[in-house]
Amino acid sequence: MGSTVDQPAGRPRILTGDTPTGRLHLGHYVGSLENRVRLQDEYECYFLLANMHAFTTRADKPSEIRESTLEIVRDWIAVGMDPNRSTFVLQTEVPAIAELTWFLAMLLPFNRVMRNPTLKTEIDAKDLGDTYSFGFPMYAVGQCADILAFRPQLVPVGVDQVAHIEMCREAARRFDQVYCGVDPHAEEEDYEKLGGVFPVPSALVGRVGRLVGTDGQHKMSKSLNNSVFLSDTPKQVKKKINSMYPGQSREPDQPGDPAINPVFDYLDTFCKDEALRAELRDRYTRGDNLGDGHVKAAVIDSVNELLEPMRARRAELEGPGGDDAVIDIIKAGAVKANAQAEHTLALAKDAMGLNFGDRRSMLGL
Ligand code: TRP
Repeated sequence: MGSTVDQPAGRPRILTGDTPTGRLHLGHYVGSLENRVRLQDEYECYFLLANMHAFTTRADKPSEIRESTLEIVRDWIAVGMDPNRSTFVLQTEVPAIAELTWFLAMLLPFNRVMRNPTLKTEIDAKDLGDTYSFGFPMYAVGQCADILAFRPQLVPVGVDQVAHIEMCREAARRFDQVYCGVDPHAEEEDYEKLGGVFPVPSALVGRVGRLVGTDGQHKMSKSLNNSVFLSDTPKQVKKKINSMYPGQSREPDQPGDPAINPVFDYLDTFCKDEALRAELRDRYTRGDNLGDGHVKAAVIDSVNELLEPMRARRAELEGPGGDDAVIDIIKAGAVKANAQAEHTLALAKDAMGLNFGDRRSMLGL
């Protein structure tokens, strides 16, 4: 492996990613994407396209998964994630992740995995009943490997992913204790320093961990049909926001309660003009001749202002040759990702007494 992989003096690392089961929406933006864009220079960033995970619930839809994978890359670039500064990682081209999944699976009790609250919520939300695949709960262990293969300090995610990160932290501690002799009482931030292969990474939740959908009820989620997508046109944004129920029925001259009006959640989240936010909130509360359409118009403007530069960046990838450009980014990222992940796997196997010789030559490469 190249010597540039392990740079003690280099930047700390980030690993996070998305499952390609649909386009990204405003909830993803405030939950995680915004942090990714912001931290790209401070951290060495690895952004994962978790296409293997997409197969855990849709193994019979390979072409949708492929298209969605390319679409996520377009979303990422649109949002300002930059493949020249960060590494885009296609999960199925990084075999070390799958190998680490096996090793970590042996360190996590079966019942611990099955009690993972994020898995339980997903089983309910996606109506998976008890017919889900064996691979479905395994993805939670896989996610530990996704993360640890890059030995990152930080994992920027929405609040729904925190249970997974907690499990990943347990897997890291366990590995370091069992195979590297790290004292179970050691402080988490010392695990690597004490000879552990893995750091104990932290979750970083975005400024809005859970954004309500346009239904005003549930978390914004593609499958609930309550999402404003980053790739929506100005017209679609307008239509979706205008269709929102403002939580109460009132006339423009009647006092209202912004706290039960989800349109105000969006105003607070997306409108940068503090004076305008305060004015609308005040007039709404007092019933000072302020119709709901007025508040919605401010939200529509703010959201479109956020999405406009994304539309411009996306357009560059949508013309002829756009798919080829996306695939080139994926290929270049895989090379960088494998350098890092193979290095980690070698360290892990070494700690486990699984060092029998040169991997490349044994693979016949
Ligand atoms: N499960 C995450 C989601 O659905 C995607 C994901 C897969 C991920 N592996 C990861 C996120 C590792 C953070 C770190 O959003």
